Amino acid sequence: MDKSKSPEKRADALVAAMSLDQKLHMLTFSDPPWFLYYGTAGHITGIDELCIPDLVLSDAGSGVAGLQYGTTTFPSGVAQASTWDPQLQRTIGRTIGAEAHAKGINVMLAPGMNIARTPYNGRNFEYFGEDPYLASQTAVSVIKGIQDNPVIADAKHYALNNQEIDRMTVDVRAKERVMREIYLPAFEASVKKADVGSVMCSYNKVGGKYACENPTLLTDYLRDDWGFDGFVVSDWGAVHSTAPSANAGLDLEMHAFAMPTPATPVTGTGGRFFDAPQLKAALADGSLSRARLDEMVHNIVRTMFRHGLFDHRTDQNAATYTSDVSTPHQAVARRAAAAATVMLKNRDGLLPLPKVAGGRTIAVIGWAAGPIGAMNSVSGGGSSRTGLPGRVVSPLEGITAQALENGDRVVYVDGSSQADAVAAAAAADLAVVVANDGSSEGADRPDLGLHPGICVTIFCQNLPIDQTDLIAAVTQANPDNVVVLDIGAPVKMPWLDRAGAVLVPWYAGLQHGNALADVLYGKAEPGGRLPQTFPVDEAQASFPAAQYPGVGGVAKYSDGLLVGYRAYDAHQRTPLFPFGFGLGYTTFDYRGLKVRPRGRTVKVSLVVRNTGSRAGAAVPQVYVGFPKKTGEPKRQLKGFRKVRLDAGESRRITIRLSPRAFAHWSTKRDSWVIEEGRYKLFVGPDSRTFPLKGAVRLPRTLLAK
Ligand code: BGC
Repeated sequence: MDKSKSPEKRADALVAAMSLDQKLHMLTFSDPPWFLYYGTAGHITGIDELCIPDLVLSDAGSGVAGLQYGTTTFPSGVAQASTWDPQLQRTIGRTIGAEAHAKGINVMLAPGMNIARTPYNGRNFEYFGEDPYLASQTAVSVIKGIQDNPVIADAKHYALNNQEIDRMTVDVRAKERVMREIYLPAFEASVKKADVGSVMCSYNKVGGKYACENPTLLTDYLRDDWGFDGFVVSDWGAVHSTAPSANAGLDLEMHAFAMPTPATPVTGTGGRFFDAPQLKAALADGSLSRARLDEMVHNIVRTMFRHGLFDHRTDQNAATYTSDVSTPHQAVARRAAAAATVMLKNRDGLLPLPKVAGGRTIAVIGWAAGPIGAMNSVSGGGSSRTGLPGRVVSPLEGITAQALENGDRVVYVDGSSQADAVAAAAAADLAVVVANDGSSEGADRPDLGLHPGICVTIFCQNLPIDQTDLIAAVTQANPDNVVVLDIGAPVKMPWLDRAGAVLVPWYAGLQHGNALADVLYGKAEPGGRLPQTFPVDEAQASFPAAQYPGVGGVAKYSDGLLVGYRAYDAHQRTPLFPFGFGLGYTTFDYRGLKVRPRGRTVKVSLVVRNTGSRAGAAVPQVYVGFPKKTGEPKRQLKGFRKVRLDAGESRRITIRLSPRAFAHWSTKRDSWVIEEGRYKLFVGPDSRTFPLKGAVRLPRTLLAK
């Protein structure tokens, strides 16, 4: 307990003082398991005589979830990425971490950072979109924020866990280059740039081996190449062996169920393999060494020391469990929800709504706008969902409050009768129709339609409401309409031509309604830019079965590097809305591009000018076009910056591109290589619009792993 010693030294002393049974105790979860322990995802009881505190683990990315009470649901992962705002992301992470600490939780099982390879993945809402650079930047900010507290963050699900169909068994086959360039960078950045304390190995197999017993992933890449010095925790029930998993690099096994040993697998999941008798048997038959066992324990307690868990103890008890820790954080949740909202269309500046003399009548339409619907789209379903959510501000409630302030009147129809909805829309000055799609862990989306869900604790069930027809009818009935989509991933918009404005707040959390009203009335700008391409239709988004969801239990990632916008560019497909796109309440122009190599980095600078009449934020994005011989996709995001400017203001900003921005993975050289040649630079407001273009010549360079 001597704080003047390093975490390494303190862990050395502790492990030396532990008995074998005490060591084994640290490698698997304690009873009672899962939610039965204060609604958390699981825990390891502390060891009092050694001053080891309880290790208490909880989901997840949009806030302290599970069967928790009195915590804030923030905008989901996809919404956090959608802000393109590292400072705000860090604030969100820090606030989530503070709530965790106040609730006696010291490991947050967040953030999730799997790449949105397909819009059908049921868990895309938890993740940071389709681009490895954006996902990396977001992950780093959120992790730093969580770990600003005495709380360990967790980079999950490592790795290539990009679908929920057959999620426990699917064997993903991807080339090393594809893994290193597309699917692993967010994990790599979490380790190298955010010092993440833990990494969760996923359910699926990678290259024929379960992720939790995969030495290439858990040791070669993670520890040897990236220098990870935290602990690896299994996804809940993702372990399939004792010694092979321990030797591959797994440190801690978790499961939702305390099943008897030897392992009895629960439907589809792995069994239990790190129980004391099993680990002792592995030691006895020599398949597991004492040295590796000590290392596993060392990894866990060293991380606990490093992140202050011994020095800032928390308590799990009835008082912490029932305390409400959310009240001071509603302002952050509200600001984040508006900053994440992507405005896709705004015909003739329909939004923001000006004050009108005598007030206007606003028809608020849709089940999703009301209290029950809003409660169900506060987040997606599954482990990241708060089973006992706090007070949700519905769109109806939020709009009504600000309508009153502005002298407007609100009428509400839930849309169960289309005729009533159409009549209300036609009679109103403005129709706001809110629809949702209920994506969830454990299932992929059946299509790109809107399937609202009703959620009981963490489980959600689809409801048979046709919202697409409702939107079509409402947008037909009144051209002054706003379509609001509470979704976790892209949807089709067959009614788009008749929409006045389209807003995508994603799953926006508890403050959804207030943030939406802020955006409608212009108190806040819709600050989001798409972290995922929106396809026109299913044909654009579909995969050959061998690629997704796989054939014979194998998913071949033969789409290679062509994920998301990289595929649209390569196949010259025009999406409905491109990656990076989003409108605000003002306009910008970009001028004066300068490209200057400075040692091994390249400085890109440009002048951004706010050409409109309101303050607002631009998000200039820098895409790199590699020399042909590298075989890289046409353009790839490598830098961006969110810049706030007053009306008429202009500023020269600099975006620094690191050497890695120009490197591709060479399996032959086993290293990152910058090929000699001319690299094009494309700068603009989204992945398809480039007012500025430049280039830089670079010499051949090898970079460290
Ligand atoms: C999920 C993880 C989660 C864990 C604990 C699993 O089913 O895949 O994301 O952290 O449960 O709840």
